[in-house]
Amino acid sequence: MGFRTVEWLDGTVPAVRLLDQTRLPAEEAYLDAADVDTLVTAIIRLAVRGAPALGAVGALGVALALAQGAREGWPDARLRQEIGRLRDARPTAVNLAWGVDRVLPLLPQGHAPVLAEARRVLVEDEAANRRLSALGADWLAERLPRRPMRLLTHCNAGTLATTAWGTALGVVRELHGRGRVALVHVDETRPLLQGARLTAWELAADGIDHVVQVDSAAPGAILRGLVDAVVIGADRIAANGDTANKVGSVGLALACADAGVPFVVAAPWSTVDLATADGTRITIEERPDAEVTSYGGIPSAPAGTRAFNPAFDVTPARMIDAVVTERGVVEPKTHADMAVLDRPADPS
Ligand code: MRU
Repeated sequence: MGFRTVEWLDGTVPAVRLLDQTRLPAEEAYLDAADVDTLVTAIIRLAVRGAPALGAVGALGVALALAQGAREGWPDARLRQEIGRLRDARPTAVNLAWGVDRVLPLLPQGHAPVLAEARRVLVEDEAANRRLSALGADWLAERLPRRPMRLLTHCNAGTLATTAWGTALGVVRELHGRGRVALVHVDETRPLLQGARLTAWELAADGIDHVVQVDSAAPGAILRGLVDAVVIGADRIAANGDTANKVGSVGLALACADAGVPFVVAAPWSTVDLATADGTRITIEERPDAEVTSYGGIPSAPAGTRAFNPAFDVTPARMIDAVVTERGVVEPKTHADMAVLDRPADPS
């Protein structure tokens, strides 16, 4: 695709350039964050979103903080405070903190080593996505050998959610390249419509046949036999395989478990958090009421109505058939221990 989700812009005042996802699909507009405040605001209002993309932004954001700190003469304590603000901008996707932590040890060495390491994060993310997509496509093709597949995905786990190629949508792309995709059911993904606005945009650009459906149509479609497999991304995968992803994911898993339809999680190893034992310990981001009680600034509920607006939910490992990473596949229903993959990726 002819865009970059996240990139570094060199210059006298360097910046992190983001494709502003709040403006898609209407327009392809870029936002240049030249200071930490602008970057943190962009993260919070989802101008950039998706766990692996947030990992890249976390790493580049440290380089940005260093550049801003040098310009404005920050003492070390202020620099670390700003980096902390960036690290905490969204709590559920582990990749944001992971990206910051990946480059943080290089902070005393200065800007150039931090930026070089951050750039490596971007390159590695694309490689991981391509590898896990091939592994995920192999896993599904082995189990569903007969005809092109009718897939269902939720939220956006494509190029827009990563630095390139995508995770769940990477698996779809890989299967499409093998001539194995008949149709993709795209959940619109209330309340911010990452499925309708972003996933449909990416699938259309790739010429992959798809339909957008309201989220509440998904369990019925699965139980009616209209879906051969569900593939989603992840924001944090606990050591036991419990998986946090966009709110609505666990309902899909329940329907799949009942219907005997494979439920697959596709994510890079950077999304696996071995320090979190299980899903009960994952912090779920709660977002503003207005995202649910209005749309496009127009109220959709009586004034003063309160909302319950968790951005994510946790699917228990017992409902997940496969967690696919670039290091290999874990099948939590039979062996719920992500640590078996805690080794360098197979280079093949
Ligand atoms: O709130 P968002 O849009 O950042 O949520 C994103 C998701 O839930 C994605 O499915 C997840 O981050 C995986 S992206 C490859």
